[in-house]
Amino acid sequence: MIILGIESSCDETAAAVVEDGKFILSSVVSSQVDVHHKYGGVVPELASRMHIESIIPVVSDAIKSADITINKIDGVAATRGPGLIGALLVGFSFAKSFAWSRGIPLTGVNHLEGHIYSVLLSDVPPEFPFVILLASGGHTNIYYVTSYNKFELMGQTRDDAAGEAFDKVAKMLGLGYPGGAVIERLALQGDTSVITFPKSYLEKDSFDFSFSGIKSAVARYIHEHGGSRLSDVAGNDSLRSGCGCNKNIAADIAAAFQESVIDVLAQKLINAALNKGVKHIAVAGGVAANSALKRKLLSYIHSSDFGGSSSGKSGAPNRIKDLKLHLPPISLCGDNAAMIAARGYQMIKDENLCYLEDDVFSRIRI
Ligand code: KG4
Ligand code: ZN
Repeated sequence: MIILGIESSCDETAAAVVEDGKFILSSVVSSQVDVHHKYGGVVPELASRMHIESIIPVVSDAIKSADITINKIDGVAATRGPGLIGALLVGFSFAKSFAWSRGIPLTGVNHLEGHIYSVLLSDVPPEFPFVILLASGGHTNIYYVTSYNKFELMGQTRDDAAGEAFDKVAKMLGLGYPGGAVIERLALQGDTSVITFPKSYLEKDSFDFSFSGIKSAVARYIHEHGGSRLSDVAGNDSLRSGCGCNKNIAADIAAAFQESVIDVLAQKLINAALNKGVKHIAVAGGVAANSALKRKLLSYIHSSDFGGSSSGKSGAPNRIKDLKLHLPPISLCGDNAAMIAARGYQMIKDENLCYLEDDVFSRIRI
C-alpha cells in the first residue's frame, strides 16, 4: 500500500511517499526557517501563508521523486494536530481534497504519534515494548509503547519543552532561531566544568520535566557576567553584541546549559525504561538530533556510573547495560511527512479514517 503523507503543523511543509509503512520512496521538507528567523520564533500567520505557497510544489516534488504516478497512491495521511491551527488547516484541507478527488481513503495523524513512528522507520527499529523520549520544540514526553497503537504517557514537561529551552537560551546568547543545533555547535568550544546550572528532577521517581528554572538561571548568569541585552538577536558578527559576554563565556554557558538538559533527559529516559523493565529505548523529535544526548545515553548504558543522581536508580547496572538505544535517521528527527505516512498506513489498515467534515486540533493528546 502506497501512502502519501503530508505534514504542516508548524514551520515545515512536508510531503512523503511511503510504501507499506516502511519503505520511504521520497521525503521532501520545505523549511520556513529563513522567514521566521528574523522574528526570533515562528509567526503563525506567516507560517500559514508559506504553507499555502509550498503545499502543491512540495507534494508534486514528493510524487516525482518517488518515481510514481498519482494513481499509484492508495491513501493519504495528514497531520491533524497538535500544532498551529492555520498551518494544520492547509495540509489537512489539501489532503482532504486530494483523497476525495482520487476516491482514496484519508486519515488524520497525531503529530506526536508520527514522531514515535520516525523511530520505527530507522534501519534497526526498537522491538515492542519500548520506552521513548519525544523531545521537540513543543513537547518533552516519555511514552511506554507496547504495540503499533498503544502509547502510555509516563511523563511530560510541566513548563518549557526541551527544544524550546534550547531556542530561548540561543536567543539570550544572540544566536538566532532555531537554537538547538547552534547551541550544540557552540557547546563544542566550551567547558562543561566552568559553570554549573541546576538540574531539575522534580519529585523522586517522577518522569516529568521542568526547564524553566535552568532558563532563568542562564538569564541570571548572562546578566551577572556582562550581558545586558538578553534577548537581542545579533548579527552573526560577534557574540559580544548578542549577549554582551565574550565568546568563551558564551561557549561555556552553552556547554553547561546543554549538559544540564541532556543529563536530565537521559536519566529520566533510562529510569522510565527500568521502571517498565524494557530492553529498548528510543529518542525522537528535533532534540534527538543532538549528538551530545546520544553520547550521554550511550555512556550511561556502557559505563556503570548511572545512579548517582537524585532520581537515578542504583543497583540496576546489568539491566542498564542491556538497554538498546534507537534513534531515527537525522533526516527524520525534525518534522517530516515520512513519519506521518508510516503512522497513517497503520491507521488506514485499521480503518481509522477521516472524512470531509472532520477538523484539525491545535491540542490533542495521544
Ligand atoms: O521536532 P521539531 O523539528 O519540531 C517540533 O515538533 O517542535 O523540533 C524542533 C526543535 C527546536 O526547538 C530545535 O531547537 C530543536 O528541536 N533541535 C535541537 C537540535 N536540533 C533541533 N535541540 C538540541 N540539539 C539539536 N542538535
Ligand atoms: Zn514535531
